[in-house]
Amino acid sequence: MTDQISPSVRVFERAAGHEQVVYCHDEPTGLRAIIAIYSTVLGPSLGGTRFFPYADEQDALDDVLNLSKSMAYKAALAGLDLGGGKAVIIGDPVTTKTEALLRAYGRFVQSLNGRYYTACDVGTYPADMDHVARDCSFVTGRTAAHGGAGDSSVLTAFGVFQGMRAAADSTWGSPTLAGRTVGVAGVGKVGHHLVRHLLEEGADVVISDVNAATVARVQHEHPHVRVVADVNSLIAEPLDVYAPCALGAALDDEVVESLSAAIVCGAANNQLAHAGVEKSLQDRGILYAPDYVVNSGGLIQVADELEGFSFERARQRTEKIFDTTKRVFALAGEDGVPPAAAADRLAERRMAEVGRLRKIWLA
Ligand SMILES: NC(=O)c1ccc[n+]([C@@H]2O[C@H](COP(=O)([O-])OP(=O)(O)OC[C@H]3O[C@@H](n4cnc5c(N)ncnc54)[C@H](O)[C@@H]3O)[C@@H](O)[C@H]2O)c1
Repeated sequence: MTDQISPSVRVFERAAGHEQVVYCHDEPTGLRAIIAIYSTVLGPSLGGTRFFPYADEQDALDDVLNLSKSMAYKAALAGLDLGGGKAVIIGDPVTTKTEALLRAYGRFVQSLNGRYYTACDVGTYPADMDHVARDCSFVTGRTAAHGGAGDSSVLTAFGVFQGMRAAADSTWGSPTLAGRTVGVAGVGKVGHHLVRHLLEEGADVVISDVNAATVARVQHEHPHVRVVADVNSLIAEPLDVYAPCALGAALDDEVVESLSAAIVCGAANNQLAHAGVEKSLQDRGILYAPDYVVNSGGLIQVADELEGFSFERARQRTEKIFDTTKRVFALAGEDGVPPAAAADRLAERRMAEVGRLRKIWLA
């Protein structure tokens, strides 16, 4: 019988390693969502809700499985008592997002009784989380008016900047980016904050973005920033640092081959297009600061809501990304592996060591 099942429906095989995958369907509102919980070994899973017009359900499933696993590793390395989860809502947020759909989604999240906390991601915003929270207690990333942490990109960018300083320290012996040329691909919510940090530090910044209005906004705020036509032109520039801050899979064989930068450090999730790219980067002498290590500031920011949000406490935790990134590079050197593999080892070590403590029964 098993052989007659199409590979597309081997859902248990595809979700191997995950604790739970939940399919949420509400026909009247058009809600079709998948919630994936990779791990709750360190605590409840937390991860954003991506609202995206996936080409098909398999793309949506693959995305939520990859993203939820990354969240578990991100939370572990950020030192949080949180596991990893993520959700996707299939559809165009511009045309299909309604109050009723978001609230239906909230009721499904509520039904998990705290095994999964949601937040914003691509296509969802703090105001959406306010709607979700009307039917659900397990929501972060709400607006400040509703007790939330608001826009998480502020600390995401600050954390990426800390990771970049750590990479500069390891590469050039000093954590400053002053006088370095940094190429930022994608100057949306995170990218434009990153540009500000870099300029304040005294770096030269070159940007590209497919959205002309977004580019115009950055140019208006920072007239000294140089703009190039597209990502390929940016990659061809003489750069010291390349910061992918748009979509995933930004680093493929071609990009690695043509990059002049000594460091890659950016906000985008899942930057490595396929297994092996981390090794190609190392072979070319490019120091890669693993994405989920340096972009955890947003997670730290929304997780702080669970303690009653304090921006200053979250900022201080985010600053530690500098030390964590240095630890990753140090382990990579000791073990003779690329930084991406070293980051996975450190995250898995914490999940095993701290997760094991739950075996000590507390009455
Ligand atoms: N917002 C957060 O707190 C956060 C946290 C962790 C990771 N991330 C990741 O960081 C990345 C950026 O997030 P964001 O919140 O700034 O998103 P965003 O949508 O605000 O910005 C992304 C920008 O990239 C641009 N873009 C898209 N395709 C491009 C291309 N081919 N070339 C150049 N520019 C392109 C878009 O026009 C947009 O301006 C995403 O990968 C996201 O998953 C974000």
